Amino acid sequence: MLFQKKKKLPAPDRAQLPRHIAVVMDGNGRWAQKRGMPRTFGHSAGSETFQKDAEYLSDLGIEYFTVYAFSTENWKRPPEEVQEILRLLEKYLHKAIREMREKNIRLQFFGDLTPFSQELRALIDETNAISRTTTGMLVSVCLNYGGRAELVRAARLLAEQCVAGTLSPEDIDERRFSGCLYSADIPDPDLMIRPGGEVRLSNFLLWQNAYTEFYFSDVLWPDFDQRQMDAAILAYQQRKRRFGGI
Ligand code: FPP
Repeated sequence: MLFQKKKKLPAPDRAQLPRHIAVVMDGNGRWAQKRGMPRTFGHSAGSETFQKDAEYLSDLGIEYFTVYAFSTENWKRPPEEVQEILRLLEKYLHKAIREMREKNIRLQFFGDLTPFSQELRALIDETNAISRTTTGMLVSVCLNYGGRAELVRAARLLAEQCVAGTLSPEDIDERRFSGCLYSADIPDPDLMIRPGGEVRLSNFLLWQNAYTEFYFSDVLWPDFDQRQMDAAILAYQQRKRRFGGI
């Protein structure tokens, strides 16, 4: 069989990079099944892709990288699969703790972390502490995260302040509302990438994606390498963002 040479892509324009890229890491299960392997093999490959892409984006100069690692709906999966995703996450956190300073990466987590083990939460705390000493790209990992749950949580936080008498309902505006989201301290995504062939949002960053540019691809997440990232960024750089204006 003749190998078709992949078309060479130009490098993304570093003067027009998206500040914030968000990704739904979809297609791990299918990637593994295509190879006759269990779905968990795909998650393992997906975790490697996440780490390589994060390093690439950090080197490129991306400031914020947000990934959907585990949704509030993913608990419906077989327990062995859930356990494997959490094991991969723990493995990554151990590695991150060793390497974050050298690679100048910051990490934070969006979602309700209360159902997770003491060990996993201790690792998260450790990465949060290291992140206060580093200054580079901020990786936000969405874990037991759902966009609707995040909005309900924000509404509840504001309601509690109103009941306590520290906030008047008429003072609730978009700025104050977004200040109650997990993403309070970071800008909205400029580019949202969904590999894996599905063309939907799946409860991901519902508020934050209001004016985000979307990039959908049939490539499965484990194969979504630097070249695919370049293609997504180049597509973004062709877009005209109007934010409702003309
Ligand atoms: C979606 O693919 C992927 C997930 C639900 C899990 C993503 C988790 C990881 C990549 C590993 C751990 C994360 C980090 C940040 C180290 P799918 O299983 O729904 O794929 P399918 O649509 O082909 O079934």
